Order: sequence, then structure tokens, then C-alpha cells
Amino acid sequence: MPQPISFQYPERVRLAQTPTPLEKMERLSDKFGVEIYFKRDDFTGIELSGNKVRKLEFILHRALHMGVDTVITCGGAQSNHCRATAFAAKRLGLKAVLLLRTSDPEQPPSPEANILLDYLAGATIIWLTPEQYQQRDQYFKWQAEKLLAEGACPYIIPEGGSTALGAWGYVSAVEELVNDVEQLDDADSVPTTVISAIGSGGTSAGLVLGNKIFAADFRMLGVNVCDDKEYFQKVIGTIVNDFQDTYLKQQIVASADIEILDGYVGRGYAMSQPKELEAIRDLAQLEGVVLDPVYTGKAYYAMISELEKNPKCFGSRIIFLHTGGLFGLFSVADQMAELL
Ligand SMILES: Cc1ncc(COP(=O)(O)O)c(C=O)c1O
Repeated sequence: MPQPISFQYPERVRLAQTPTPLEKMERLSDKFGVEIYFKRDDFTGIELSGNKVRKLEFILHRALHMGVDTVITCGGAQSNHCRATAFAAKRLGLKAVLLLRTSDPEQPPSPEANILLDYLAGATIIWLTPEQYQQRDQYFKWQAEKLLAEGACPYIIPEGGSTALGAWGYVSAVEELVNDVEQLDDADSVPTTVISAIGSGGTSAGLVLGNKIFAADFRMLGVNVCDDKEYFQKVIGTIVNDFQDTYLKQQIVASADIEILDGYVGRGYAMSQPKELEAIRDLAQLEGVVLDPVYTGKAYYAMISELEKNPKCFGSRIIFLHTGGLFGLFSVADQMAELL
């Protein structure tokens, strides 16, 4: 019987509305003959909605402790992480600079969905081409130097807040999940698979670490929405190792614990196929729950596609981690409208 690992949480600023509810999807469960629950991390806030705020609680505590006045981060044009960072920064009286990726910085995307919210929060946006974005560490450095020269005190948050420190956010979410599952009627260790989307790897890193730290015995399964399984095994493995070296001084996660369901990137990152959008529409009409097209929609589509092939493939209980991203749906409004 695995024993919980002793540890101490780093300090955090309270930003997220937690614990988030664990809700049973009754009709979806009936459809596939397995228990399907959604962990509603889309309820962590309105402006701050989604998974990123759990990581930001730890990251921004450190930033505040260091006395910074500006945070710099990066992401795709419709990045949920950047939007959450822009608002979290304002909650704490900080400025935010966002390096956003777009095909042509001369003609940036129109201010809709997350981009509109970034501007609304007063964030400074710097548009980078995909090639420049590959060199984002250099751009981070230049921005930080520029801000320092202007008398500001900047702090860099890597893509997605996916660092060892940020991973604490999902370690703590596993503690919540353990409590959630204890509240279910038939709590006696029903084999449970937790399914989540992978974008930059920090959420999955926290989940696999938390699973060991709390001896939780969930099957943690990530669905990559870009790149591939090998790439994310490395990325998540690096965050996990960094976390173990920094905070635990012991190895608790084996590479086999980092399980990834590949094959559902579809047309590519942030590009939707009609069948993915149809799955989002059908869930909204079946259960009254909205997913986003970039992350949760793809992970959900992966989950139901596998269940259609074999309803027992994830065991008798599934917890789908709803990591938010709702605003992203408004950036595909035209595509979605065609399916309604
Ligand atoms: C809504 C949403 N879900 C899931 C993810 C994936 O999380 P992570 O970047 O920690 O892998 C992201 C960000 O990438 C996101 O914005």
C-alpha cells in the first residue's frame, strides 16, 4: 500500500475559487455505461477561469515576495494563460506584458475573445511571429532588460506557468480530488481515470506528482493538443524532475506514470475539425456544459472516441478535468454557428 509523501506547500496568494465542484454527468454516464464526472476547474473564477490560476497562485506569490511590479509571459494569440495572468496581475496591483504568437504581427488578430480581455485588463501585447516565438527566451530577456532600463521590476513567467513551482497548483488539485472522491457514495477504491488536456505540460506534471504525494492511485491520462507523446513525455518529465529535486529530494514518479493519449491533435494546435466542434455542441445540449475548442474540446473528443470503441477502456469511473478556456469558443463562433 503506497504511503503519502511528506511535503510542505510553498506559500501562495489566494486567487482561485476552490475547491471546485465534482459533478456527475448523468446522461453521458448512461450513454457509455460508466460513471463520468467533471471536475469543474472552469469554475475557478470568471476572468481567471480555468487551470492557469491554480499555478499562478504559487508563481505570483513568489513574484510579489521578490517585490516585482510587472510580469511578462507568453502564449498563442488566444492564450488562456495570458488572459488569466493579465487579470491576476491586476488583482495584485501589477502590470502585465504578454508576448503573443501570430502569423503576421503587422496584421494582428482582431481583439476578440481572450485578446479582447487582455486589452481590457490593460496588458501590453507584443506580437511575435511563430519563428520569433521559438526564440521566446531571448524575447523575454529583451523585454525584461527594456523594463529594467525604464525603472520597472519585471518577473518572467514561462509559457503556461508550466514550471516546478506552478506544478504545485495541480498537486493541490489532487488533494481536492481525493476529498471529492471520498464524498462519493461508493468510495471504496473504484478504479478511476483522470483525463485532462495537455498544452504546456504543467497541469499533467502536477497531477502525476500529486497522485504520488497523496498516494491517490488515480490513473492520470493526458491528451496532447499539440506536438506528440514523445515530446510531452520529455517536457512533463523535466518539470517533474525539477519539482522532485527542488521540493522533495526524492524520486517518486516513474516515466511510466506519465501516460499520454496521442492521436487527437487533429488539424493542429488551435485548429478545429467539425467533429470536435460537434462534440462540444452535443455535450452542451446533453449536459449543459460548455467546453473550449483548443484544449478541453479536444480532450473530450478523445475521451468519447475511445469510449465509443470500448466503454470500459478507462475503467468504471472517469473524472474529466474541465480546465476552462470558455472564452476561446468565441474565436470560432462562425465555424460553430454552421453546426447549430
Ligand atoms: C483551457 C486549458 N486547458 C488545458 C490547458 C493545458 O494545460 P497545461 O498548459 O498545463 O498543459 C491549457 C493551457 O495550455 C488551457 O488553457
